[in-house]
Amino acid sequence: MSRLDLRCKVELPVFIIAKNNGGSGVTETEAKFTSLSLSGGYVDHSHPFSANKILGLRYDLPKHGEFEILGEVARSEGRGFATRFYNLNRDAKLKLWDFLKENIADDPSCPYCGKEYTKKLRTCEICGWNLNFYSQDYIVDHEKESFVKRLESKSGLFSIEDMYKILNFIDVQVLKIGKNLDINEEFVGSSQGILNVFSMIRKVAPTDIPVLITGESGTGKELTAMAIHERSQRKNKPFVTINCAAIPDNLLEAELFGHEKGSFTGAHISKTGKFEYADGGTIFLDEIGELSTRLQSKILRFLEDRIVEKIGSNSGKKIDTRLIAATNKDLKTAIAKGSFRKDLFYRLDVFNINLPPVRDRAEDKVILARYFLNKYSKEMNLSKTLTAEAVDAVRNYDWPGNVREIINKVRRAVVMSKDPSITPVDLDLNVPVMHTESITSLKEVRYSIEKQKLIEALRHCNNNISKVARVLGISRPSVYSLRKKYHI
Ligand SMILES: Nc1ncnc2c1ncn2[C@@H]1O[C@H](COP(=O)(O)OP(=O)(O)OP(=O)(O)O)[C@@H](O)[C@H]1O
Ligand SMILES: [Mg+2]
Repeated sequence: MSRLDLRCKVELPVFIIAKNNGGSGVTETEAKFTSLSLSGGYVDHSHPFSANKILGLRYDLPKHGEFEILGEVARSEGRGFATRFYNLNRDAKLKLWDFLKENIADDPSCPYCGKEYTKKLRTCEICGWNLNFYSQDYIVDHEKESFVKRLESKSGLFSIEDMYKILNFIDVQVLKIGKNLDINEEFVGSSQGILNVFSMIRKVAPTDIPVLITGESGTGKELTAMAIHERSQRKNKPFVTINCAAIPDNLLEAELFGHEKGSFTGAHISKTGKFEYADGGTIFLDEIGELSTRLQSKILRFLEDRIVEKIGSNSGKKIDTRLIAATNKDLKTAIAKGSFRKDLFYRLDVFNINLPPVRDRAEDKVILARYFLNKYSKEMNLSKTLTAEAVDAVRNYDWPGNVREIINKVRRAVVMSKDPSITPVDLDLNVPVMHTESITSLKEVRYSIEKQKLIEALRHCNNNISKVARVLGISRPSVYSLRKKYHI
């Protein structure tokens, strides 16, 4: 088998610096490299060291001066030992290459596989490596060319987790894939819908305009509001949340705007309101659709003049607070019914971010489920994965409670499941059951499975016929004719 680093015969003196066995102190002995490559060499030495010992190796290169590197004893014999270099830096490598190049010149065989070759050959006929050593970029080109083989030669030692870590390292650290996709590492998703949301967050965050966030319950409205705050100039100032549905209207006014001492029965001390707390920062009014029209008017006034007036006070205070509001209600219907002020709606709706429900986020369902599975498994010091059936069940379920429902089901599954693999039952997801007793013939079984798989594939691929054809391993015309056959 050919080597990945060419080796050549040399006569290079080397000082070996070794820790004394068992005792303290080091000894330094003189020996010589009789063969050398960029990754190791053979040292002629009358008292060889035992395998795996780590040594310091100091050598002088004719044109480049002195180098000291670390080497591990790979193999030891009566007359010497083979050593593998550790962490040879780029500079030391290039200088060593410069020295090796001179020595290859005298050797008529391929320095990779040992095959005799005439010097005119540019590529070894046996191992295929390039032999044009005098090209300026030879070593860089060879390292690029041999990179995959280098990984391959070690890959047998990788566990599957190592492999994922390595691939992930390449994607995230080297290629920076996804660097600008996520708004922060807590906000997960790569569907077009959520990427649009990330893009809107990035656009609106640096401005001061109010934002209206809409979307079903559990879709991430509060998370979006926080992401806007964190990406704004206000990020070091308070982010104050208030849930308009959770506080009765009479208390909510004091909560939002504050009150003076004695301004109403029970107002024993004066109180600062949430708007004032959020001065310089952001106030997030959750479930704004639940506000009374009276308080809607006060909010509207604030948006117009930025002045907050405490209950019982006859003067106002100028406040610099950015307003973000959220609702899962359809405010246009509320306007039609007279329960929401049209003018406030238009002030808020200047910039609307609508969060898509999870059922419309394609592969995000599985990404989110895996994200929370990792998160909760780690918290509990467990290692859990989803079975293929669980992945299918996650994909095929509609998740009416959106991300919050994914969180709840996954967290419960991590706690309840006894095995490392999580099944659809652990997730409490209804798996479609086939009632075989009602099926009388093979034709019917086939019909039923074919139809079910087609429905699943269409849903999974968002009705994209080319994708469905690929997933099912059939042609596009076949997908069309199956749709016709099953009236889908
Ligand atoms: N894309 C996402 N990635 C990771 N976690 C998310 C994502 N979207 C939402 N979450 C998490 O899901 C939970 C629900 O999100 P959030 O409270 O922001 O939703 P909401 O729309 O405000 O819900 P509700 O209408 O019920 O108040 C939170 O724990 C949030 O951190
Ligand atoms: Mg919320």
